[in-house]
Amino acid sequence: MSHSMGRREMIGAAGAAMVAGALGSGAVAQESKAQRKVIGINSSPRKGKTTAAALTVCLEAVQELDPKLDVELIELADFSIPAQLAAGQPLKAGEADDFPKLVERLGDPAVVGIIVGSPVYFGNMSALCKAFLDRCGAFRSDGFKLRNKVGGVLAVGSARNGGQELTIRSIQTALMCQDMIIVGDGQPSARIGATLWNQNDSIAEDAFGTDTAKNLGRRVAELARMFASAEATNV
Ligand SMILES: Cc1cc2nc3c(=O)[nH]c(=O)nc-3n(C[C@H](O)[C@H](O)[C@H](O)COP(=O)(O)O)c2cc1C
Repeated sequence: MSHSMGRREMIGAAGAAMVAGALGSGAVAQESKAQRKVIGINSSPRKGKTTAAALTVCLEAVQELDPKLDVELIELADFSIPAQLAAGQPLKAGEADDFPKLVERLGDPAVVGIIVGSPVYFGNMSALCKAFLDRCGAFRSDGFKLRNKVGGVLAVGSARNGGQELTIRSIQTALMCQDMIIVGDGQPSARIGATLWNQNDSIAEDAFGTDTAKNLGRRVAELARMFASAEATNV
């Protein structure tokens, strides 16, 4: 994926990147190991809407801070993620499970950061986000495969104070259960994450929220770069 990808291209390319990832050849794995990556996860059932737009702002800021980091946006709406499997309950007749495709993508050691974005649904994350996070228990059971990846969270609501921070905190808690390293939106505001306000199905008018998304992306990239350099010098 191009490092200087525009918002529309980034959203549009997500599906193609997923197909490439699902193929999972050794060559692809080696290539991605060399190219460190930050993945944005859109957990709105509405693809390409305000949560996707906020994540795109965030991922652009990742690349602005460190052009060596690759970025990818994954739309969870493209995947069937049955939540009951997290509790050991079987698929319903005809139900598909696409979660293994995500395991391959997110468990890649080249993935150094994961930014989860959710719409605010009645003061908390979307059901799709919860299903995804519950199924991420598979990483925990498999030797904490998400351990030490940098985790950032953003939330978008249709009210300025519609529960974005509550939503972020809930998601952060689940990421902490993965032993990930959780960051907020960093300086200058240094709050708990990116909080955005959807007005007429757009975040374009929300300068404050958009700034928090940029700051979150920069903070994730900053930490990812610090870990890479510590790793390189065996600290
Ligand atoms: C079921 C449901 C519950 C919602 N609850 C809230 C809420 O509690 N607070 C809020 O600010 N917005 C709420 N919203 C609005 C969405 O959070 C908002 O439209 C968001 O931008 C949608 O993200 P998307 O454009 O990526 O789908 C709710 C929307 C739905 C469908």
